[in-house]
Amino acid sequence: MSRAVIYETFGGPEVLQVREVPQPHAGPGEVRVRVTAAALNPMDWILSSAPEWAEQFGITMPSGFGHDFAGVVDEVGAGATGCAVGDRVYGGALGQAVADFVVVTPPTQVPEGPSLSRTPVLLSRTPTGISDEVASTLAVAGGTAAAALAAIGLRSGDTVLIGGAAGGVGVFAVQLAKLAGAHVIGTASQSTFDFLRQLGAEPVAYGAGLADRVRALAPGGVTAATDLFGTETAETALALGVPPERISTIAAGPNPPGGVRATGGADAAPDALQRITDAILAGTITVPIAATFPLEQTRDAVTLAAERHVHGKIVITL
Ligand SMILES: NC(=O)c1ccc[n+]([C@@H]2O[C@H](COP(=O)([O-])OP(=O)(O)OC[C@H]3O[C@@H](n4cnc5c(N)ncnc54)[C@H](OP(=O)(O)O)[C@@H]3O)[C@@H](O)[C@H]2O)c1
Repeated sequence: MSRAVIYETFGGPEVLQVREVPQPHAGPGEVRVRVTAAALNPMDWILSSAPEWAEQFGITMPSGFGHDFAGVVDEVGAGATGCAVGDRVYGGALGQAVADFVVVTPPTQVPEGPSLSRTPVLLSRTPTGISDEVASTLAVAGGTAAAALAAIGLRSGDTVLIGGAAGGVGVFAVQLAKLAGAHVIGTASQSTFDFLRQLGAEPVAYGAGLADRVRALAPGGVTAATDLFGTETAETALALGVPPERISTIAAGPNPPGGVRATGGADAAPDALQRITDAILAGTITVPIAATFPLEQTRDAVTLAAERHVHGKIVITL
């Protein structure tokens, strides 16, 4: 037997149950991963609480929980190529990750270095020197941050306003923007300011009056923006005269206001995660892990994450 977090009805963290389930096995073309870490993203609890979203993503009941994982390949099915037993891997598998095992069909050839596949399953080798906890945070948050900056053509010399800069996606976006040579202003609450400064961003409080505060911080103007929380940052950037094609949002649905660019992790460039893992190994990006929880405490982890004031990532360890 093995453990898996599953839900049979929609609702808050209370619907998440730790169950003993039969061990899954790798069928033809599949590999089984012994999961050691699974990072949470808002989409995880949106899917377990909102039937209309779950339907869009093809979730049926009962469903497993979580998307991002890292671990070790421990079974390779007949004909599966690109992975061997013992390989350390990380990736994403919708509705599966918070469990002792995930079974996935890998991309035909799992890349030597990490990469982001556009297939529903993401699987990459975990580079030596990167822990499973850190690797488990990369697929969604890292890829989405890279996509959000690529969508606005971020470049050296930009002054970029990042909304929700201390969250799971924000911590990657801030550091990637700094690496690109941009001056970064990030929105957060006052108590988060020191955390953002440590990442290299100049903090500014979100909420009413944001445009005036940003003007005071950037008298030379803001040249680009990405909204990682909703629409306030995107709307503020428009009000500050940033052209819509230099504003992106990942959290406002497919048709954001003012013609700004909607994007997400699926738009990440093939080398996006490679660039991030290279930077982690070089010490130029750190991944703040705000808290870890054992699988049995997944409800507590989701309760904390859903408050939306986490700095960095929350990871379930197995
Ligand atoms: N399209 C995609 O592919 C994609 C992928 C990943 C995520 N997303 C979406 O992007 C959003 C961000 O994801 P995430 O993982 O970064 O979320 P997260 O980790 O939950 O974000 C938490 C951060 O949000 C900040 N925050 C709270 N209230 C805010 C407000 N009113 N305005 C601005 N910031 C506020 C908090 O800062 P303080 O603690 O200082 O308040 C905290 O640091 C979510 O809506 C998620 O669903 C989309």
